[in-house]
Amino acid sequence: MGNHGWLLGFLLNFLLWGSALVPIHGMPPPSPVQCNGSAGCILRNSYGEWGDRKDCRVLSIAYPETEEEMRLAVAQANQKKQKVKVVSGFSHTIPKLACPGKEYYSGNAVLISTAKLKSTIEIDTAEMVVTADSGVGLRDLINRVEAAGLSLVAAPYWEGLSVGGLISTGAHGSSWWGKGGAVHDHVVGLSLVVPAKESEGFAKIIRLEAQDPLLNAAKVSMGILGAISKVKLSLEPGFKRSITNNFTDDAHFEDEFMDHAKKHEFADITWYPSRRTAVYRYDDRVPLNTSGDGINDFLGFQSNSILTSKLLRAAEKALENSRSVRGKCATASTVLAYKRLVANGLKNNNLIFTGYPVVGHQGKMQTSGSCLYSPSTRTDITCAWDPRINGLFFYETTAIFPATKFAEFIREVKTLRELKIDNFCGVDMYNGFLIRFIKASGAYLGQAEDSVVVDFNYYRADNASTPRLNQDVWEEVEQMAFFKYGAKPHWAKNRNLAFLGVQKKYPNFNKFVAAKKQLDPQNIFSSDWSEAILFGKEAEKGDGCALEGQCICSGDRHCSPEKGYFCRTGLVYKEARVCRYSPSSIAWTFSN
Ligand SMILES: Cc1cc2nc3c(=O)[nH]c(=O)nc-3n(C[C@H](O)[C@H](O)[C@H](O)COP(=O)(O)OP(=O)(O)OC[C@H]3O[C@@H](n4cnc5c(N)ncnc54)[C@H](O)[C@@H]3O)c2cc1C
Ligand SMILES: *[C@@H]1O[C@H](CO)[C@@H](O)[C@H](O)[C@H]1NC(C)=O
Ligand SMILES: *[C@@H]1O[C@H](CO)[C@@H](O)[C@H](O)[C@H]1NC(C)=O
Ligand SMILES: *[C@@H]1O[C@H](CO)[C@@H](O)[C@H](O)[C@H]1NC(C)=O
Ligand SMILES: *[C@@H]1O[C@H](CO)[C@@H](O)[C@H](O)[C@H]1NC(C)=O
Repeated sequence: MGNHGWLLGFLLNFLLWGSALVPIHGMPPPSPVQCNGSAGCILRNSYGEWGDRKDCRVLSIAYPETEEEMRLAVAQANQKKQKVKVVSGFSHTIPKLACPGKEYYSGNAVLISTAKLKSTIEIDTAEMVVTADSGVGLRDLINRVEAAGLSLVAAPYWEGLSVGGLISTGAHGSSWWGKGGAVHDHVVGLSLVVPAKESEGFAKIIRLEAQDPLLNAAKVSMGILGAISKVKLSLEPGFKRSITNNFTDDAHFEDEFMDHAKKHEFADITWYPSRRTAVYRYDDRVPLNTSGDGINDFLGFQSNSILTSKLLRAAEKALENSRSVRGKCATASTVLAYKRLVANGLKNNNLIFTGYPVVGHQGKMQTSGSCLYSPSTRTDITCAWDPRINGLFFYETTAIFPATKFAEFIREVKTLRELKIDNFCGVDMYNGFLIRFIKASGAYLGQAEDSVVVDFNYYRADNASTPRLNQDVWEEVEQMAFFKYGAKPHWAKNRNLAFLGVQKKYPNFNKFVAAKKQLDPQNIFSSDWSEAILFGKEAEKGDGCALEGQCICSGDRHCSPEKGYFCRTGLVYKEARVCRYSPSSIAWTFSN
């Protein structure tokens, strides 16, 4: 096993340092929708797999190019009493929110795609607002805004999203300043297509302006209030940013995060628990005349050669199969050293990193996704998670904490870490814990108080019934976050259990439900899947359901007793129920 880790370190070194020389760009992601005549269509997310691993099948899909065509599509669904959902051309959401219809039967469900609803981006320089069709991609929007000498202040770190899709799930970057890091808090107007009476043509467009209370429901609406046709966002005069990363020890970051977020407009922290390392991002707005034309080409969103992605996945699987915690630690260590060397993908001059600070235009520093773009010449490179290539496949847990509870959560995770630090290497092979900041919001499904968002990614097996190395650790951290410290799940990420009881965590939840009743009384924009998320319903507890987070185990059969995983209590958070590997129990179980 020791050898394994060493070998993997070597392999990774070779792959990472070698591939850094390859020019970026690659094969664009596959379309999320595949249709086959009368057999209907299948919707997938960008990872190619939903939480429940079941296909989302629909009867048909419409591709409106204008707001009026979108209205007609909604009208037709309403008239035919069909279930309907909108999906973007990207489908980057992990929960099955965009799937219409009922479980096991979607025969009367249809989709409306915004993939072609993207021709208008109108900038009002005097008012400093931009109004865009909902299918417009974030990158296109930002480029247009910057060309007009303005900047969009908040955006997620990943640019491969649509304007309508990203606000719908509360997507965010990081900031406690001004209006804050969540994009929906910069929304000042929105047009929504909702079902209507026959006399009104079965569907109508409503325009919500800044003062309209319905806007607080519609800003973050998970696609269930209606079809968003246009989004109006506030802008600021163009600016640049200056970023420096400080890779330092993690001894006190839980006591320093508040100061850090208050001091730097776009601050974040990445915590690598197994490496005892915290990376502070000092990230501030600077005037346009500051010299520097850098970009933030985040490493995780750069193209990988398909071969590299496959080898990394194969290596990770080998470590899983041989239960090599050590090998994971060796990998985590190599990955972190590499990130430090290349500053996570910051580039001073568009090409390489030459030193801090890296200064560049807001439009080039806030968000990235170079793996999305393809010159026709390269078909051997993609985003690392492209489902066509057997590349990376992982879970993404994202917990949103009231700022006041965050330090205590981190202290408890540190206690768990001290029991066996190597058990934490699995997340550090990805991005550790990414810690970001968002401000209190008026959106009913947004955050009622200033909050801290934590993201962590970890291995997901190809087969749903395959347990994973240290899965008990991640289950304990997950349950601690959501059930002990009151964290809320990001609507676009997470495994199903994270949503249990979620409605009780939102003080304005009932106002959202009331808006839903007003705008879509027949529930045509709701489905079994979106209801399960919104109302945090627990699914039927089948064998192995805890392995993929479809349930919290309460008996061994929810884990995988035949593979040595039994339902046990948490090591630090005793109320947690996790699937823990305990090979000596196998003989006992099967002899009783
Ligand atoms: C690699 C990657 C990185 C990410 N990084 C971040 C990040 O940094 N910060 C963050 O907060 N999130 C991040 N996310 C999550 C992402 O922001 C959300 O998943 C987002 O909602 C996806 O937008 P989309 O355009 O792909 O929408 P989809 O996934 O297609 O749709 C999202 C939801 O919105 C609904 N919807 C879409 N368009 C409309 C419309 N016009 N009208 C009504 N409903 C609509 C859908 O029904 C669905 O419920 C990331 C995701 C990935 C895959
Ligand atoms: C399309 O559907 C038909 C009929 O159900 C089926 O026979 C055929 O294999 C399908 N084709 C593809 C490419 O899925
Ligand atoms: C890095 O962060 C640590 C912890 O906040 C701090 O003590 C140190 O001075 C910082 N280093 C630099 C170069 O800013
Ligand atoms: C930028 O412009 C401001 C005034 O507009 C000026 O005071 C400042 O010195 C300039 N800075 C640089 C680096 O040129
Ligand atoms: C997953 O593994 C189980 C046995 O462990 C097997 O029965 C099942 O067919 C596999 N599923 C897939 C999709 O490969």
